[in-house]
Amino acid sequence: MTFRAWWIEKNEDAEGTTQQTASLTDLGPAALRSGDTWVDLAASSVNYKDALALTGGAGIVREWPLIPGIDVVGTVRSSDSGLWTPGEHVLLNGAGLGESRHGGLAEVARVDGEQLVRVPQRFTPTQAAAIGTAGFTAMLAVLAIEKHGVEPGDGPILVTGAAGGVGSVTIALLAHLGYEVVASTGRGESEGDYLRHLGATDIVDRHELSDEAGKPLQKQRWTAVADAVGSTTLANALAQTQYGGIVTACGLAQGADLPATVVPFILRGVTLAGVNSVDAPHELREEAWTRLAQNLDIDLLDEMTEVYALADARSVADQVLAGSVRGRAVIDVTQ
Ligand SMILES: NC(=O)c1ccc[n+]([C@@H]2O[C@H](COP(=O)([O-])OP(=O)(O)OC[C@H]3O[C@@H](n4cnc5c(N)ncnc54)[C@H](OP(=O)(O)O)[C@@H]3O)[C@@H](O)[C@H]2O)c1
Repeated sequence: MTFRAWWIEKNEDAEGTTQQTASLTDLGPAALRSGDTWVDLAASSVNYKDALALTGGAGIVREWPLIPGIDVVGTVRSSDSGLWTPGEHVLLNGAGLGESRHGGLAEVARVDGEQLVRVPQRFTPTQAAAIGTAGFTAMLAVLAIEKHGVEPGDGPILVTGAAGGVGSVTIALLAHLGYEVVASTGRGESEGDYLRHLGATDIVDRHELSDEAGKPLQKQRWTAVADAVGSTTLANALAQTQYGGIVTACGLAQGADLPATVVPFILRGVTLAGVNSVDAPHELREEAWTRLAQNLDIDLLDEMTEVYALADARSVADQVLAGSVRGRAVIDVTQ
């Protein structure tokens, strides 16, 4: 059995500088080192992390050589886990895939059966990959907002990085649940109609939030915030959140810094809640995927998705890093 896979290697050039290169190659089963369950893959996706890994960015890949792809969706070929039988549709997001263990940008994967989640019947493999880590993370943010006690009718929720993968799914989920959603985007002119179609009632230019950190306490605008970009944007979002509100932080598309003060926490009781999809416990994964099946509008999901062939993954990565991908980029690994 040989199979196609993206393969990231670390090499030294003549000057001794380390470089990370990605190429599409043919591999044999011995390349897949461990895991009790073999999965014939159907689809994966190019998330922000995958884009960094495919383009040689530092800090994502921690084992070399490695198959990138933090999302796996496919059909069980065989399993020694006692949990799965051949033919069942399964998925896995994060859990070290594409970082410290082989991921989903390949035709075959070998994973631990106990980590897998059943693909909800409502979704095709392509739709499950379209949701992927981005949509799973969006659901985790929505769950955190719900568990904080925020209800539809309480006031507007700000979603940053709105036209990206996490942002698009977050807007669709919140709007479906009846929340009022305001989208922060740098692409209001080109993507304004798209964001309104997903369910945003209003749009703010991301530069209002991202350009400079404003006062520690600003006009109270948001009952909650789902942030995917970090940095000055997150600092201003905290300063604009209403008394007792919650701000979820999952990403760093603008930057990993946080030029904020403690004032929103101590004078407005604002909660800053971190969202980590990679290490989410299995019970939370099951909960999030059950809720995605209940609360994500499939037509909107299809509208925010573009499907590409396996060989296209590298060029899609460039588009993701350039900020020009709208919504989700799925890789059909069988193409
Ligand atoms: N914690 C976790 O478990 C987890 C899981 C998934 C993703 N993430 C992180 O979440 C972030 C978003 O992921 P994604 O998959 O949605 O990525 P994406 O599809 O590339 O979208 C990121 C969006 O961020 C906005 N953005 C980009 N550069 C910006 C800048 N300089 N200033 C302000 N906004 C900027 C853009 O939105 P507009 O074009 O609308 O302005 C862009 O579409 C990434 O940092 C990713 O690593 C974390």
